[in-house]
Amino acid sequence: MTIAIASDHAALKLKSAIVEYLTKKGLEVVDLGPQTEIPCDYPDYAEKVAKKVQKSSGALVGILICGTGIGMSITANKFKGIRAAVCSDTFSARMTRLHNDANILSIGERVVGLGLALDIVDAFITTEFSSEERHQKRVDKITKLEK
Ligand code: RB5
Repeated sequence: MTIAIASDHAALKLKSAIVEYLTKKGLEVVDLGPQTEIPCDYPDYAEKVAKKVQKSSGALVGILICGTGIGMSITANKFKGIRAAVCSDTFSARMTRLHNDANILSIGERVVGLGLALDIVDAFITTEFSSEERHQKRVDKITKLEK
Protein backbone atom coordinates (compact mmCIF):
# COMPACT_ATOMS: atom_id res chain seq x y z
CA MET A 1 0.00 0.00 0.00
CA THR A 2 1.20 3.50 -0.82
CA ILE A 3 0.32 6.41 1.42
CA ALA A 4 0.47 10.08 0.45
CA ILE A 5 0.91 12.31 3.49
CA ALA A 6 1.06 16.03 4.22
CA SER A 7 0.53 18.39 7.12
CA ASP A 8 0.75 22.07 7.91
CA HIS A 9 3.28 23.75 10.21
CA ALA A 10 1.14 22.90 13.27
CA ALA A 11 1.46 19.18 12.68
CA LEU A 12 4.96 18.69 11.32
CA LYS A 13 6.11 16.63 14.31
CA LEU A 14 3.24 14.18 14.07
CA LYS A 15 3.71 13.91 10.30
CA SER A 16 7.39 13.00 10.76
CA ALA A 17 6.49 10.40 13.40
CA ILE A 18 3.85 8.84 11.13
CA VAL A 19 6.20 8.81 8.13
CA GLU A 20 8.87 7.05 10.22
CA TYR A 21 6.32 4.58 11.62
CA LEU A 22 4.91 3.64 8.22
CA THR A 23 8.31 3.45 6.55
CA LYS A 24 9.55 1.07 9.27
CA LYS A 25 6.54 -1.11 8.53
CA GLY A 26 7.79 -1.36 4.94
CA LEU A 27 5.03 0.77 3.44
CA GLU A 28 5.71 3.21 0.64
CA VAL A 29 5.16 6.77 1.86
CA VAL A 30 5.03 9.84 -0.37
CA ASP A 31 5.69 12.87 1.84
CA LEU A 32 4.21 15.93 0.14
CA GLY A 33 5.48 18.35 2.77
CA PRO A 34 6.03 20.71 4.33
CA GLN A 35 9.55 20.04 5.58
CA THR A 36 9.87 23.06 7.90
CA GLU A 37 7.74 24.67 10.61
CA ILE A 38 7.51 27.93 8.67
CA PRO A 39 3.80 28.90 8.83
CA CYS A 40 1.88 27.68 5.80
CA ASP A 41 -1.75 27.23 4.77
CA TYR A 42 -3.36 23.82 5.24
CA PRO A 43 -5.53 24.05 2.06
CA ASP A 44 -2.36 24.03 -0.09
CA TYR A 45 -1.25 20.72 1.41
CA ALA A 46 -4.70 19.16 1.50
CA GLU A 47 -4.91 19.91 -2.24
CA LYS A 48 -1.60 18.11 -2.93
CA VAL A 49 -2.72 14.91 -1.20
CA ALA A 50 -6.29 15.03 -2.53
CA LYS A 51 -5.03 15.36 -6.14
CA LYS A 52 -2.57 12.50 -5.64
CA VAL A 53 -5.29 10.22 -4.26
CA GLN A 54 -7.69 11.29 -7.03
CA LYS A 55 -5.17 10.42 -9.75
CA SER A 56 -4.27 7.06 -8.20
CA SER A 57 -7.74 5.55 -8.87
CA GLY A 58 -7.77 3.74 -5.54
CA ALA A 59 -4.12 2.67 -5.56
CA LEU A 60 -3.20 4.89 -2.64
CA VAL A 61 -4.74 6.43 0.44
CA GLY A 62 -3.93 9.78 2.00
CA ILE A 63 -3.17 11.05 5.48
CA LEU A 64 -3.56 14.74 6.32
CA ILE A 65 -2.62 16.30 9.63
CA CYS A 66 -3.17 19.83 10.92
CA GLY A 67 -3.92 21.26 14.36
CA THR A 68 -7.42 19.80 14.50
CA GLY A 69 -7.59 17.75 11.28
CA ILE A 70 -10.72 19.72 10.42
CA GLY A 71 -9.38 22.30 7.95
CA MET A 72 -7.57 19.55 6.05
CA SER A 73 -10.69 17.40 5.76
CA ILE A 74 -12.94 20.30 4.75
CA THR A 75 -10.51 21.14 1.95
CA ALA A 76 -9.90 17.56 0.80
CA ASN A 77 -13.64 16.88 0.56
CA LYS A 78 -13.93 19.60 -2.12
CA PHE A 79 -12.20 17.25 -4.57
CA LYS A 80 -14.25 14.77 -6.60
CA GLY A 81 -13.92 11.20 -5.42
CA ILE A 82 -12.34 12.18 -2.13
CA ARG A 83 -13.88 10.94 1.08
CA ALA A 84 -11.82 12.40 3.90
CA ALA A 85 -12.67 11.64 7.52
CA VAL A 86 -11.35 13.32 10.65
CA CYS A 87 -10.74 10.61 13.23
CA SER A 88 -9.73 10.97 16.86
CA ASP A 89 -10.42 7.35 17.82
CA THR A 90 -9.67 3.93 16.36
CA PHE A 91 -13.33 2.88 16.09
CA SER A 92 -14.11 5.78 13.75
CA ALA A 93 -10.94 5.12 11.73
CA ARG A 94 -11.99 1.50 11.19
CA MET A 95 -15.63 2.29 10.49
CA THR A 96 -14.91 5.05 8.00
CA ARG A 97 -12.96 2.56 5.86
CA LEU A 98 -15.50 -0.23 6.34
CA HIS A 99 -18.69 1.75 5.74
CA ASN A 100 -17.69 4.99 3.96
CA ASP A 101 -14.73 3.75 1.92
CA ALA A 102 -12.84 6.83 3.14
CA ASN A 103 -9.68 7.36 1.13
CA ILE A 104 -8.12 10.09 3.27
CA LEU A 105 -7.59 10.03 7.02
CA SER A 106 -7.35 13.39 8.73
CA ILE A 107 -5.86 13.76 12.22
CA GLY A 108 -5.41 16.69 14.61
CA GLU A 109 -1.97 16.88 16.22
CA ARG A 110 -3.45 19.16 18.90
CA VAL A 111 -6.24 16.66 19.56
CA VAL A 112 -4.65 13.23 19.92
CA GLY A 113 -1.37 12.04 21.42
CA LEU A 114 1.29 10.20 19.45
CA GLY A 115 0.37 6.68 20.60
CA LEU A 116 -3.30 7.10 19.75
CA ALA A 117 -2.47 8.77 16.43
CA LEU A 118 -0.38 5.76 15.36
CA ASP A 119 -3.18 3.36 16.42
CA ILE A 120 -5.66 5.44 14.39
CA VAL A 121 -3.36 5.20 11.36
CA ASP A 122 -3.08 1.43 11.86
CA ALA A 123 -6.85 1.00 12.09
CA PHE A 124 -7.33 3.03 8.92
CA ILE A 125 -4.72 1.35 6.74
CA THR A 126 -5.50 -2.22 7.81
CA THR A 127 -9.26 -2.03 7.22
CA GLU A 128 -10.81 -2.66 3.81
CA PHE A 129 -14.13 -1.29 2.54
CA SER A 130 -16.81 -3.89 3.29
CA SER A 131 -18.25 -3.75 -0.27
CA GLU A 132 -21.59 -4.95 1.11
CA GLU A 133 -24.42 -3.80 -1.10
CA ARG A 134 -25.95 -1.40 1.43
CA HIS A 135 -22.63 0.39 1.99
CA GLN A 136 -21.78 0.50 -1.70
CA LYS A 137 -25.22 1.97 -2.43
CA ARG A 138 -24.65 4.76 0.12
CA VAL A 139 -21.17 5.57 -1.14
CA ASP A 140 -22.57 5.65 -4.69
CA LYS A 141 -25.13 8.22 -3.49
CA ILE A 142 -22.29 10.41 -2.19
CA THR A 143 -20.54 10.10 -5.56
CA LYS A 144 -23.76 11.05 -7.36
CA LEU A 145 -23.93 14.29 -5.38
CA GLU A 146 -20.63 15.33 -6.93
CA LYS A 147 -22.19 15.53 -10.42
C1 RB5 B 1 -3.21 26.36 12.35
O1 RB5 B 1 -3.06 27.26 13.40
C2 RB5 B 1 -4.56 25.65 12.46
O2 RB5 B 1 -5.59 26.55 12.21
C3 RB5 B 1 -4.62 24.48 11.52
O3 RB5 B 1 -3.57 23.63 11.78
C4 RB5 B 1 -5.86 23.62 11.57
O4 RB5 B 1 -6.17 23.26 12.88
C5 RB5 B 1 -7.02 24.03 10.80
O5 RB5 B 1 -8.05 23.35 10.72
